[in-house]
Amino acid sequence: MLRTSLTFILLTIIFSSQKPKKNGVKDLFKESFYIGVAVNGQQVSGKEAGALPLIEEHFNSLSPENGLKWSLVHPKPEVYSFDFGDAYVALGEKMDAFTIGHCLVWHQQVPNWVFENESGEPLDKDKLLARMEDHIQTVAGRYKGKIDGWDVVNEVFNEDGTFRESKWYQIAGKDFIKNAFRKAYEVDPAAELYYNDYNVWKASKRAGILKLAKEMKAEGIRVDAIGMQGHYTLGGPSLDEIEKGIIEIAEAGFKVVITELDVDVLPRPNNSEGADLNINFANSPEYNPFVNGISPEAEAKLAQRYADLFQLFQKHKDKITRVTLWGLHDGKSWLNNFPVRGRTNYPLLFDRDLKLKEDVFAKLKVVSKQ
Ligand code: XIL
Repeated sequence: MLRTSLTFILLTIIFSSQKPKKNGVKDLFKESFYIGVAVNGQQVSGKEAGALPLIEEHFNSLSPENGLKWSLVHPKPEVYSFDFGDAYVALGEKMDAFTIGHCLVWHQQVPNWVFENESGEPLDKDKLLARMEDHIQTVAGRYKGKIDGWDVVNEVFNEDGTFRESKWYQIAGKDFIKNAFRKAYEVDPAAELYYNDYNVWKASKRAGILKLAKEMKAEGIRVDAIGMQGHYTLGGPSLDEIEKGIIEIAEAGFKVVITELDVDVLPRPNNSEGADLNINFANSPEYNPFVNGISPEAEAKLAQRYADLFQLFQKHKDKITRVTLWGLHDGKSWLNNFPVRGRTNYPLLFDRDLKLKEDVFAKLKVVSKQ
């Protein structure tokens, strides 16, 4: 008798500890859109203490912060490195998460050899496109059926809507963009395909993006959604500007994905709006005011900014399929090093001790019920 009830108690404990928890951020918005998080290698492998349980509890979509970018996954012509990618998609499968690939073609984090022949001279257009397509074949092909959506092309426009003069563009013109989408579709037609950029809220930049996206659509090239990265600050861009972006993208016939959301709470040097990685300033106390903790005013503003942003996303849930945070917690955010190196920033939903910011969460709860 005693034994039976002990077994019963034990089984109840085991069973209830295995039940998926239903009070995460993802559960607040489960009727609206996926809630994603960008993860790094330490988190995927479970080496960062405490991170993995939070990822599983609060998120139902994953993005790879760096590990699938060209220079990491394909560092040398004949060398591919799939350790991160394999562990990453395995985690995605285990969590039954909507798993994103980021990114197939970008001007950053891409080795110089990609654009050169063996003698170090610039490749011609056909060879560059063949190399790009081969890369897409190998990477997207390996994860076919395991990655649900790809950022196919990242950041190819300037702020005024003209094409960025990257090596891709200098050698291949805009054809590299079209070929990348065509190839990604050929390799994995079941995956969603995205064009992703920062400052999509800016009308001039968005005009260039949507012109090209519509042109591709008219030519039968599939583009499912436009990724608005969402690297915002406490003060800008305005909700109105972001909303115009969401509405215009939807009107042009594309879904919206908020792909890299974070809120910079620190002062920004002039001309550092957005997420252009070429911008980098040296540290100084003026730009690093919260080394020993965020001020109560900034903390309150952060909670309100997140509430306002999610209220806007919630209002447009018919257009938005996913909102992804660019990192799990403040301690690992790229905004500790961009656009000024070595700062103490507070841009995410979890603090440096991996604690959910309760004031943000309380506000999101209210917004999610509206
Ligand atoms: C960032 C990563 O977060 C950093 O760790 C890395 O050093 C640089 O890239 N736009 C993008 C992301 O599309 O891939 C960038 O991620 C941030 C800006």
